[in-house]
Amino acid sequence: MSGPVSGTNRSEAVWWQSGTVYQVYPRSFQDTDGDGVGDLRGITARLDYLAWLGVDAVWISPFYRSPMADFGYDVADYCAIDPLFGTLADFDTLIGEAHRRRLKVILDFVPNHSSIEHPWFVESRASRAARKRDWYIWRDAGPDGGPPNNWLSNFGGPAWTRDPATGQYYYHAFLPEQPDLNWRNPEVRAAMHDALRFWLDRGVDGFRVDVIWHLIKDEGFRDNPHNPDFEPHQAGINRFHQTYSCDRPEVLDVIAGMRAVLRDYGERVLIGEIYLPIERLMAYYGPELGGADLPFNFQLIQTPWRADAVAALVAEYEAALPEGGWPNWVLGNHDQPRIAARVGEAQERVAAMLLLTLRGTPTLYYGDEIGLGHVPVLPERAQDPWGRNEPGHGRDPERTPMQWEDAPNAGFTTGTPWLPLSADADRRNVETMRDDSRSILTLYRRLLSLRRDHPALSIGNWRNLTLDTDLAAEVFGFERFAGDETLRILLNFSTREWRVPLHERGAWTILLSTHAGRTGERVEGGLALGPDEGVILSPVGG
Ligand code: NOJ
Repeated sequence: MSGPVSGTNRSEAVWWQSGTVYQVYPRSFQDTDGDGVGDLRGITARLDYLAWLGVDAVWISPFYRSPMADFGYDVADYCAIDPLFGTLADFDTLIGEAHRRRLKVILDFVPNHSSIEHPWFVESRASRAARKRDWYIWRDAGPDGGPPNNWLSNFGGPAWTRDPATGQYYYHAFLPEQPDLNWRNPEVRAAMHDALRFWLDRGVDGFRVDVIWHLIKDEGFRDNPHNPDFEPHQAGINRFHQTYSCDRPEVLDVIAGMRAVLRDYGERVLIGEIYLPIERLMAYYGPELGGADLPFNFQLIQTPWRADAVAALVAEYEAALPEGGWPNWVLGNHDQPRIAARVGEAQERVAAMLLLTLRGTPTLYYGDEIGLGHVPVLPERAQDPWGRNEPGHGRDPERTPMQWEDAPNAGFTTGTPWLPLSADADRRNVETMRDDSRSILTLYRRLLSLRRDHPALSIGNWRNLTLDTDLAAEVFGFERFAGDETLRILLNFSTREWRVPLHERGAWTILLSTHAGRTGERVEGGLALGPDEGVILSPVGG
C-alpha cells in the first residue's frame, strides 16, 4: 500500500529543518502607537502568543527605512528602521525577547532593488559619469527611441523608465520607485554583504531573500519571448516568458556569496523567494548545496486543490529534491490570496493538517491560524500599488490586520486601521478562539504541538500510500516515520465520507482529527473518514 520513501536517516536536524516559520507582515500585526499601522513594539508584545502557538521562528516582512511605495519592499537604507515601525533599540529589544522565548528571528532582505530614494540611486542617476552609475541598470533607448527592450514590470507597464537627467533608461522589475541594483557589480555585492553582516551582528537568525531568482539579468538584455498561452485575466507580465529577465545561471554564484556570509555566523538560514516550476526551483539549492537552504516552495499555492493533484505534486517535489536538500512548504503569504479564501472554511482545516504533516519546514502566514479569509477592501481604501496599476491583482485582502480580541478594531490598534478588519472580527479573533476546542486556532496549536512531540512529523521520512483509484481521487494518504514510529495521515479533500481500508497493520489510534471529538478513537480494519476530514493515525502499541 505504500510507495517509495523519501528522506534520509537523519538523527540530528538543525532548527530551520525541524522547526516551523511564522510570517509577520509588520504593518498588520499589532499597532502600539495608535497610527493604525503595526510596529516592532507590537510584535514584541505578541511574542508570548507566538510561543504559546508553538512556532519556532518569526519571519518579519521589511521594516527598513522606506518611502513605502511598495510598503517597505522599496528600501532607502538597508541598515535603518523606518520610524513608522520604531527604532533600532526597539529592534534590539524584539530580538532579545524573541530569543529569551527560544524564537528565532528571520529578516526580509530585499537586494534586487532599492528605493528610488536610496542615496545609492540618487548618486547613480546624477550623471552618466557618476561613481555609482553602474550600481543600477542603465541603458540607452532602443532603436525606435523607446525602452531598450521588451521587458515588462511585474506590477504592470514597461520595466524601463527614462530619466530626463541623462536621457538613459533604468530597469525596474517592479515599480519605477524600485530601481534594480546591478548585482554583476562587485561593489554592490560587497555593500549588500555588509548589510547582511549588520543584522547578523545584531543577532538575526537568517533571511528570507526577496525575489532571489531576479538578481541577475541577461548580460545582452535580449528581448523576452512571447507567451502564446497568455490569457487576458492574467497580469500583463505574463505576455512574455521571463527567459532573459530572471533565473539566469549566474545567479547561483550570487546566492553562494550570500550563503558564505551567513556561514561565518553558524546556524543561520537563507530562504529564497522563488516562483519557478519544480525542476528550475531545485537548482537554487545550489551546486553541492551551497545555495539557498530553503528555496521557497510555493507549489501548494499553485496546484488545484484536489487530492490527486496534491498527491502527485508532493511525490514530484520529493523525487526532484537533490540529495541533502531539505524540503519546505507554504500555503500563503502577503502576495497571495488567503488559503481560507481559496479552499473554503471546511477545507482550510485539511490544508492546515497537510502543511504541518508534510516533510519539510512549513511557513505559516499570520492570520491563517484564525482562518482569516478574503477581507474585501473598497476601491477607495485600496492601498496596494499593484492593484491600482492592474485592477484585480491587488494584495490588500491578504494583508488585513491580525484580530486579537473582541474589542474595537479587534485589539489591533486604538486608531484607524490602515486596512479593514473582517466582518466577523468579534468572533474571529485569538481571544475568542483560543478556548474553543473546535476552532481552527486550536487545531493549528495541536498540530504544532504534535509536530514538536513526534520526530516522525518534524524530521521523519515520507512515503505515499497507494490507494484505490476512486479513493485516491479524493483522499490523499501518506506516512511519516522515524526510528520506531510510523504515523499515517489521511486527508479527505471531498465533501463525501470515505471508508479507508487499514488492513495491513493492527489497530490504530486517532492522534488528531480536524473534526472535534475523535481524538483517541481506536480504529481497526478501516476508517470512516468524514467529509472534509483529516486524521493523523498512530498504530496501537507501535
Ligand atoms: C516580492 C514581495 O513578496 C512582494 O511583496 C514585493 O512587492 C515584491 N517582491 C517586490 O519587492
